[in-house]
Amino acid sequence: MSDLHVLSVVPEIYPLVKTGGLADVAGALPLALAPEGIRTTSLVPAYPAVRAALGQPQAEHVQPDLFGGPVRLLRGTVAGLDILAIDAPHLYDRFGNPYVGPDGRDWGDNALRFAALARIGADVATGSVPGLRPDILHAHDWQAGLAPAYLTYRGGPRPGTVMTVHNLAFQGQFPAGLLGTLGLPAEAYNIGGVEYYQSIGYLKAGLALADRITTVSPSYAAEITTPEGGMGMDGLLRVRAHALFGILNGIDETVWDPATDPHLVAPFSRDRLEARTANKAALQARLGLAPDRRALLLGVVSRLTWQKGLDLLLDALPHLLGFDLQLALLGSGDRALEAGFAAAAAAHPGRIGVVLGYDESLAHQIQAGADALLVPSRFEPCGLTQLCALRYGALPVVARVGGLADTVIDANEAALAAGTGTGVQFAPPSREMLEAAILRLAALWADQPTWQRLQRSAMDSDVSWRRPAARYATLYRALRDERRT
Ligand code: ADP
Ligand code: GLC
Repeated sequence: MSDLHVLSVVPEIYPLVKTGGLADVAGALPLALAPEGIRTTSLVPAYPAVRAALGQPQAEHVQPDLFGGPVRLLRGTVAGLDILAIDAPHLYDRFGNPYVGPDGRDWGDNALRFAALARIGADVATGSVPGLRPDILHAHDWQAGLAPAYLTYRGGPRPGTVMTVHNLAFQGQFPAGLLGTLGLPAEAYNIGGVEYYQSIGYLKAGLALADRITTVSPSYAAEITTPEGGMGMDGLLRVRAHALFGILNGIDETVWDPATDPHLVAPFSRDRLEARTANKAALQARLGLAPDRRALLLGVVSRLTWQKGLDLLLDALPHLLGFDLQLALLGSGDRALEAGFAAAAAAHPGRIGVVLGYDESLAHQIQAGADALLVPSRFEPCGLTQLCALRYGALPVVARVGGLADTVIDANEAALAAGTGTGVQFAPPSREMLEAAILRLAALWADQPTWQRLQRSAMDSDVSWRRPAARYATLYRALRDERRT
């Protein structure tokens, strides 16, 4: 039985549409909250993939015109998720990446597309769909950031609002002249409202006006209140520090379970680690790497962007190839990084295997077959790939930032003595420090009994949603009770 109802307002949700970790979180958190007595309805744009997954849903609510076309709300259940999809063909009937057009640039009407998501979120939160009366509106990232603003400036009774920052680098900034078109009053355009450097800031609005702000790790929550990590928002976040909480992400342990993973040639577990070698051999074969059990196989599964620091790895490769190492990289993003890794693979066949693109199955195979996973991010709000790596016994090598710092225990001397290490951390994120970390990893690899102990403690790490879900539940309940009194 649920006693609290959350309307989660999200621009992407696994398994329907995903560009990154936000979709994983949006798809897993509702399932993890159910045992806490919390029911979640997820409001998402009805992109073609969402509409297809819903089949023949019931139209719940019709609005003749919003930003140039009609809007219907479609209701259905997909993969255990209660989905409310905004069917607005003029805004969302576009294939591929939800934010970017075929020319690789942001859709020109993103301001309207995501204002619509937030505005309908605010409508639903205040009862526009019969039978739905959420206690909490939970907005994720800039795409949903205007929802608290619509609720604030409409006045009247409203549920509590939570704004979660998955990545402060994406802020959603649009021309001030849109204010009237968006349906926001002139009074909204001020420093305590939606105004941000003479424009309208969608994330800024959410950060200024939501009752609570969360982000996806305690370390990132601290970093974003500093000028170095605040990306222009640190002043506001310092003012709101009393309402800011860092709650780590988890991963869906049914999607990421090495004992049952259908993408693997050989299932394994902490007590059957030897079965991992078949996955390593399969990965080497798939990526054209030499079939060498003793080479230390490093994996990467990542967006290729400045955030992820993979240019540091590219620069380090010439120095690392003197050692008995292999690299299996899956990623897509910046053209220069894609070209750089493709060239490295062409120059070192058998040592470097690169797949450019998005491939869920290969992502699982890298986690299961690589000996270690590299995440040299310059900043990382939480990061999910290192959590998958822990669960799959691929030792994470991570920059000591954000959620990476909070989830990996460095195998330093003290940790080795205590048997608590789960990976390798390095700081600051630089080519030299990344190289040093990989050499430290190689020394651990040379001592196989120690390596296997580390693998087991990595696999014993709690990367589930249980603890995070309980923390969200506490936060939601406190907020609901506060607004009732
Ligand atoms: P971010 O959201 O910043 O990209 P996260 O680590 O939080 O980083 O989440 C990334 C998610 O996307 C993980 O589930 C990861 O497995 C997946 N992923 C990233 N790149 C790829 C890719 N090229 N192919 C398949 N999955 C990918
Ligand atoms: C963002 C962040 C990543 C985080 C994910 C889910 O994409 O870059 O660190 O894990 O959101 O919260």
